[in-house]
Amino acid sequence: MTDLAAAAEFIELFHAENPDAGPVHDRIAWIRAEIDETGTYRHTEDELTFGARVAWRNSARCIGRLYWKSLRVRDLRSVRDASSIAEHCAEHLRLATNNGKIRPVMSVFAPDRPEAPAPRIYNDQLIRYAGYGQPDGTVVGDPLYTGFTTTVTAMGWEPPTTQGAFDILPLLIETRHEGQQLFTLPREVIREVPLRHPDFAWFAELGLRWHAVPAISNMRLDIGGVSYPAAPFNGWYMGTEIGARNLTDIDRYNLLEVIAERLGLDTSDDRTLWRDRAAVEINRAVLHSYAEDGVTITDHHSESRHFLAHVAKEERAGRGCPVDWSWIVPPMSGGLTPVFHRYYDDPETTGPQFFVDPEAAQRGQQGGPRYFAEPVSPKRHAAPVLVPGGLAD
Ligand code: ARG
Repeated sequence: MTDLAAAAEFIELFHAENPDAGPVHDRIAWIRAEIDETGTYRHTEDELTFGARVAWRNSARCIGRLYWKSLRVRDLRSVRDASSIAEHCAEHLRLATNNGKIRPVMSVFAPDRPEAPAPRIYNDQLIRYAGYGQPDGTVVGDPLYTGFTTTVTAMGWEPPTTQGAFDILPLLIETRHEGQQLFTLPREVIREVPLRHPDFAWFAELGLRWHAVPAISNMRLDIGGVSYPAAPFNGWYMGTEIGARNLTDIDRYNLLEVIAERLGLDTSDDRTLWRDRAAVEINRAVLHSYAEDGVTITDHHSESRHFLAHVAKEERAGRGCPVDWSWIVPPMSGGLTPVFHRYYDDPETTGPQFFVDPEAAQRGQQGGPRYFAEPVSPKRHAAPVLVPGGLAD
């Protein structure tokens, strides 16, 4: 049953920030009746769009919030079948990629309703790379996704004949009426950037690449007491996410030593700062390659300034800005950016928000556990595959 108090709080916020929306009391009275009748209520399209944008505005860990009003919201609440969801995810990527000029987009699929629970997308992002554990304990690909890769492989996904470091994982989608299904995204909606370095020709030989669009797909959007567990959204990358985390963390691609050796650095002593020097060069390569390919990316210096402009703007609007310092300060050169040198409002907040539910986090990395009991009459699908122009079994 949807909480009327949460609904009313959101509707009041919506009307306070949208004075043209009509009388707030009528709308709340309507919602009260609708909740009495059906156990929940339906957002108008304007409420949905506003709620999604404010959920972004409230994301204490996001440095890119200056652009919160530009979020494009696709109202796909009537979409409930796994194959249609997969097709719309592909379309999401096409719209978001926009030939390199990345647009922030959210696709909102059916919410949880008492009589009809929402579909679930297991993947933590629409585009992620497989990780293959090797007999000697090493991993080819992204070590974060070895569990997910094992699960989808057991379900029938066929990895490329030669396992690569950057093989795109399939989408794993579950609905109550269909159970779990796998979908391969069509190649043409996945833009990637081969990484090369402005000064070092050898860098390109490492064969590194990354995807253009980070599209988070396992966070639950909560607006006024209504839960939208399937609501993938994207912004564009800040270089350090790729260069100072994905490619460098020791439990991810762990490339610092490889790069340091190519650079001829002395790795025998921490104090040569070989890690720091290698990290700078990877990050230069990331920013350089995206820019050269015309794919939107930002750097941590500019984005820190933009973020402080956002905080100031929020203050002028009479609002607080929830901030989690440890996420906002970039993972390299923190003290070289202005966001480091100050304190902020508490990250705890109310109103529209994104949540990572612990089970959703587990599904994003392990591909399980399944959310619904086995469907009553399971339709057996041999992993349908999304191909250009539609679905083929
Ligand atoms: N850090 C995540 C990644 O490297 C993406 C998180 C969202 N980032 C963004 N710029 N919208 O894939």
